[in-house]
Amino acid sequence: MAGRDRIVQLLRQLERVACRCPAHSNAFHQGAAEPCTVRKTDYAFEMASSNIRYGPGVTREVGMDVAALGARRVCVMTDQNLASLAPVKTVLESLVQNRVDFSVYDQVRVEPTDASFAAAISFAKAGLFDAYVAVGGGSVIDTCKAANLYASHPDNDFLDFVNAPIGKGLPVKGKVPPLIAVPTTAGTGSETTGVAIFDYEPMRAKTGIASREIRPLLGIVDPLHTLSMPSRVAANSGFDVLCHALESYTALPYHQRAPCPPSPQLRPAYQGSNPISDVWAEHALRVVSKYFKR
Ligand SMILES: NC(=O)c1ccc[n+]([C@@H]2O[C@H](COP(=O)([O-])OP(=O)(O)OC[C@H]3O[C@@H](n4cnc5c(N)ncnc54)[C@H](O)[C@@H]3O)[C@@H](O)[C@H]2O)c1
Repeated sequence: MAGRDRIVQLLRQLERVACRCPAHSNAFHQGAAEPCTVRKTDYAFEMASSNIRYGPGVTREVGMDVAALGARRVCVMTDQNLASLAPVKTVLESLVQNRVDFSVYDQVRVEPTDASFAAAISFAKAGLFDAYVAVGGGSVIDTCKAANLYASHPDNDFLDFVNAPIGKGLPVKGKVPPLIAVPTTAGTGSETTGVAIFDYEPMRAKTGIASREIRPLLGIVDPLHTLSMPSRVAANSGFDVLCHALESYTALPYHQRAPCPPSPQLRPAYQGSNPISDVWAEHALRVVSKYFKR
């Protein structure tokens, strides 16, 4: 059995390697500030909580939420498969009932790419929307985050906000309109994150955009949507839950992560394991062990 110091050393090595991973590197590490010179490792973690509403059938409330935002032109994003299924139908009915003016973009690519992001961004730019509703799995929600970000930052190049080393990892400085996410799968958790993942085809690499500014304002989590999930998508969602929980639980603890950020804004999204995320990770692992096979 390896000693504790040896395990910490191995985790540090993994962390250093992981930092070069284009999907997760520089997540919320924005700007080239000097690291803190007082402390070698971090001493704090932050739980920037997301807003979630959960309940069977709760999707029918989305029109009221959008109306309450005072939005005049709303963009609803989904993929072609979901466009004819109950989750999208319920969202559109709710928007009509609440007299919300909306346009639907149903061309989201499953496993998005820079090209499919670009198509959604063009649609968003042309529509001059002041709010967004994403109805779908991680592919739809992530595409909608990117469309919202670039439509509200029309002067930026696509790679400006993409994580380094592929992109520049620039901080998002302007305002980004509200996005409400209605997840139809149960594994990515994209409705709670400020991350949008895509395949960057010129380099055949999976990377992402990470900024608190693109995190959905609200996630409407309606378990009824999982009823139409194909079995393979359900199984893969389960693997997502398992992997997220394992990664979170076995990550280097936050107080052993280096360098210590010089300001709270530069504390990364992936901060290491901590007593609060441990509770959720353990619970998720219990849920997976009870229900995954079933
Ligand atoms: N942003 C994040 O924090 C985050 C985290 C993990 C993964 N991801 C990304 O999420 C993407 C995967 O998302 P996903 O696994 O949620 O699936 P998905 O969005 O890729 O959808 C997979 C398929 O399932 C279908 N589908 C989804 N919900 C359905 C439903 N209720 N009924 C019938 N069909 C349904 C879709 O139409 C699609 O064909 C990947 O690109 C991954 O990189 C993002």
